[in-house]
Amino acid sequence: MRHQILLDVDTGRDDALAIMFAVLHPEIDLQAITCVEGNTSLENVVSNTLKILDLVDAPPVPVALGARRPLVEPPRDASWIHGKHGLGDVDLPPSGRQTEPTHAVELMRRCLCDAPEPLTLVALGPLTNIALLLRMHPEVSGRIKQIVFMGGSATIGNATPVAEFNFWHDPEAAHIVLTSGIPLTMYGWDILWSMRTPADQVAELCASPSQVRRTAGRLLGFEVADPSNGETVIYDCIGDAGTLCALVAPELYGVERRPVQVVLTPGPARGQTIVDRRAMAGEDAVHATAEQHPLVDVVTSAHNNEVLALFFATLGDR
Ligand code: BDR
Ligand code: CA
Repeated sequence: MRHQILLDVDTGRDDALAIMFAVLHPEIDLQAITCVEGNTSLENVVSNTLKILDLVDAPPVPVALGARRPLVEPPRDASWIHGKHGLGDVDLPPSGRQTEPTHAVELMRRCLCDAPEPLTLVALGPLTNIALLLRMHPEVSGRIKQIVFMGGSATIGNATPVAEFNFWHDPEAAHIVLTSGIPLTMYGWDILWSMRTPADQVAELCASPSQVRRTAGRLLGFEVADPSNGETVIYDCIGDAGTLCALVAPELYGVERRPVQVVLTPGPARGQTIVDRRAMAGEDAVHATAEQHPLVDVVTSAHNNEVLALFFATLGDR
């Protein structure tokens, strides 16, 4: 059975790879794309999304603009690593595709209400649009089969030592999604960053006659200077695209159902994900001080080579 999905993006180099995968994978039925400010400005996110849809010759798919800023804090982009416009140094022609005249929240609501069966939401940016949907239209929760999101981490962070970018950018939105009661799968930073693309594979992609593969290679091989020490950093992981691989090929991943919360308090832990991976009760349970937190299917391991093979095979060689 095909996965009927709504895709929420902040495109972003690895969101771009995810959009390619969503369009090209035969088991994904991409019903709409909603855009959120995150990796780069909302204008860049929309423009990048439309250009990538052109690149993979996608059939018409509704695309709508969503939140320009997180629920509480001002937006803080990640253009230092995604490049000035969000696609590294990839320069694609402007798209003639039009965006929907409605807000992302309204587009999601409409799709959910019109679909004969509940839809899967795949969220690859800060969770602002999804949180707004759940607050503005709580009645559609039952129309959401599951939310599979890239965000959080069961170990280290990237935006801060402990917080992953999407959770750090809008922790309140992450909290709303985590406590929504909807079945959730978390594809965190720890798993994302463990899946690097070997340099020879990036070089091979860059030399491919296929424009899709060449673009993927350049998105993966983009080099930036680490602002803290000037050293070269290569964000050569398929990133958000791995979240979609986990949807279509769950057998390639290890998953643990665990209580998950996000830290909302100001200070150095804001945006941190706390995944309770303890093997037995702790003193918090013994002394009845433990709070209950929602159970989330947390991706904790992956067969990296097989996932990369799936991703690159799906790109094809056109
Ligand atoms: C997340 O932030 C962005 O860099 C990626 O697109 C991914 O969604 C990783 O923290
Ligand atoms: Ca993203």
